[in-house]
Amino acid sequence: MIWLLVASLFAPNFVVASTPKPLWGDNGHRVVGYIADKHLSRKARKKIEKILGNESLAMASTWSDFIKSDSSLNAQTATWHYVNIPDGQTYEQMQKDPRGDVIEAIDRMMKDLQDPATNIEKKRFALRFLIHLVGDLHQPLHTGRAEDLGGNKIKVRWFGRETNLHRVWDSDLIDNMELSYTELAESINFPSKEQINTWQSTDHRAWAEESKAAAQKVYASAKEDAKLSYRYAYDFNEMLKLKLLQGGVRLAGLLNKVLG
Ligand code: ADE
Ligand code: ZN
Ligand code: ZN
Repeated sequence: MIWLLVASLFAPNFVVASTPKPLWGDNGHRVVGYIADKHLSRKARKKIEKILGNESLAMASTWSDFIKSDSSLNAQTATWHYVNIPDGQTYEQMQKDPRGDVIEAIDRMMKDLQDPATNIEKKRFALRFLIHLVGDLHQPLHTGRAEDLGGNKIKVRWFGRETNLHRVWDSDLIDNMELSYTELAESINFPSKEQINTWQSTDHRAWAEESKAAAQKVYASAKEDAKLSYRYAYDFNEMLKLKLLQGGVRLAGLLNKVLG
């Protein structure tokens, strides 16, 4: 009998622990949303309040991953979170996934948000997705290689625990900082005027190219079975923080444009 009790205590944990979340972790998205909020125009903020009500950008940012628990919604939207651009090709040249990708989904959500004929529910859907997808686009491995599912198939150890390279970049590096999303966002939200202007002057196709360049560094950083810990965080925390900051500043620029 006792083994049953022991099994029931451990089985749910085992199931949860063995189901990796292949998502820019919640706090990464919240940091991007929180920073974006600080760079919104007055006009854009007013329109966002009309669409989201009391839901902050930080809270709205994780909804697109939350709905992955709904199998029908997940089937429709799963491919919107990433794009795998083959080496030597541009996004325009590559063969597109007919189910959609992060670039195409951002295009579509921007259109829905701008169209006066879109009803409020559809606008809320589009805005929540936009907030989320601009964050995903700044996680380098969301523009990683198709053959390893953006690093999801590359098993590595993080402080001895089994994980994968994608997950290290979605959440392990961020969790390792042991900061709340507001603490992390406040600690990095010091872009110069010049950085803001430069970062906001390009579109999401260019952001994907930058993200892919960053992904190549990430792929070079860790092979299968690599044991990652302090040194990895030391080497990559600056790049990670830059990507989170760029994501937030660019999301604000995009929303200011679409809703301003
Ligand atoms: N998540 C799931 N599949 C992926 C892929 N092919 N690239 C990046 N992220 C992913
Ligand atoms: Zn991810
Ligand atoms: Zn996502």
